[in-house]
Amino acid sequence: MGCFVIHFYIFVNTHRNLIMSETASFTLDGNKFEFPVITGTENEKAIDISKLRDQSGYITLDPGFKNTGATKSAITFLDGEKGILKYRGYKIEDLAEKSTFLEVAYLLIFGNLPSKEVLEQFRTDIKKQMMVHEDMKMFFSGFPSKSHPMGQLSCLVGALSAFYPESLNPNQSEEEEYKTIINLLGKMPTIVSWIQKKSLGHPVVYPKKDLGYIDNFMNMIFGEVNCDKIFDEAVLDAMRILLILHADHEQNCSTSTVRIVGSSNANLYASVSAGINALWGPLHGGANQAVIEMLEDIKNDGGDVEKYLAKAKDKNDPFRLMGFGHRVYKNFDPRAKIIKKACDDVLEKLGVEDPVLDIAKGLEKAALSDQYFIDRKLYPNVDFYSGIIYRALGFKSDMFTVLFALGRLPGWIAQWKEMRDNKEPIGRPRQVYTGETDRTYPDDTQR
Ligand code: SDX
Repeated sequence: MGCFVIHFYIFVNTHRNLIMSETASFTLDGNKFEFPVITGTENEKAIDISKLRDQSGYITLDPGFKNTGATKSAITFLDGEKGILKYRGYKIEDLAEKSTFLEVAYLLIFGNLPSKEVLEQFRTDIKKQMMVHEDMKMFFSGFPSKSHPMGQLSCLVGALSAFYPESLNPNQSEEEEYKTIINLLGKMPTIVSWIQKKSLGHPVVYPKKDLGYIDNFMNMIFGEVNCDKIFDEAVLDAMRILLILHADHEQNCSTSTVRIVGSSNANLYASVSAGINALWGPLHGGANQAVIEMLEDIKNDGGDVEKYLAKAKDKNDPFRLMGFGHRVYKNFDPRAKIIKKACDDVLEKLGVEDPVLDIAKGLEKAALSDQYFIDRKLYPNVDFYSGIIYRALGFKSDMFTVLFALGRLPGWIAQWKEMRDNKEPIGRPRQVYTGETDRTYPDDTQR
């Protein structure tokens, strides 16, 4: 039998500053245990149970880690109840309006906004790394042309470790680590463009020295070897906003994967390749592709949103409203609000009429007034509208999650770097064993 009490102890130090230090105590099997309470800079509180098993013999159990903090991090803060998202203390709304993707990447990875000179050097260093070793095409040529882009991406990113063996050194100097980071930031957009070109059977387009990060990427995707593609500013700005909004999101499934793989001293390419695979799942980053497929199904089935809301609520129906709900946000995902507005702007500027946009808006309106969704605090998330923009920009739906990965890359790098800088231990969760206990190995006559 145990009971759980939080005690507040007030210590007054010699400088008369009040230091509020809390502890949490509980009794188990008649023994009293006390553990420190940690308060983050945004006043989140956690009970530090790092000595729980040593002191009590007990572990905690928390499937999906809904109540478990894996680390302390200074990179991204989100408040799910209030719908707040900040990168290194800057509101996502301000960054989406005023910043650039590479400036946000620098901010996430190194902790502060760079000066103009530092940002220019960062940009130059990355651009120098955008060419990919021609021998990488030998892996690439083996993929069937219809194979899913996320499988190709994770394979090619992991393969970079073969071409840059110095990255395998877990004790890289800061300078060597910077080179690995820059190399991956430079090569990812080129690799993504190779995947797009392969799906079309077109020759790849190489990066150009006179283009910026996003227009280089878009030219490698939509340009041709015999002619560059000129883009409407609205298109480039939509990509800028989408990449910034996807850049990091604290300890989500794929980022936790990058951190735990990196915690074994695996190199950055291997850790990010693992993160790409985690992001692929339709419950996570794969949702942006699943949303468009869902909206298309609803459109082709006559556009009856009420029918699909009923399916989403029916426990006997495996159908889920893709792009709705979130493990942390129990309010609007701030990114979804920004993307929804960008969606309207881009489609209007490009003169694109996409019937699934009206279906998405009808679905959102109906769900937000439906008691099932209200009771469970299910709101549109980042994936609900993003696919509509990607499609308006000319991407096929199986490329949407690859675009999510391109945006998330700086966040994965920042989190992997923070985990290493903080010298965090290898991630190795415990379990509660529920299987067979002592069994005798039978001789042949007994089975
Ligand atoms: C991303 O973590 C991150 O930060 C991720 C991300 C990032 O930037 O990295 O924000 C990106 O992954 C966004 C989420 C994309 N996924 C989807 O849109 C897929 C659809 N959504 C769900 O499957 C679900 O909402 C999750 C996976 C996102 C969250 O699942 P949880 O937190 O484990 O919640 P749950 O499954 O326990 O659901 C709680 C209740 C259940 O009903 P009851 O058992 O209480 O009756 O809500 C229901 C669920 O059935 N529910 C849904 C629903 N989502 C939750 N019912 C219908 N449709 C949905 N979409």
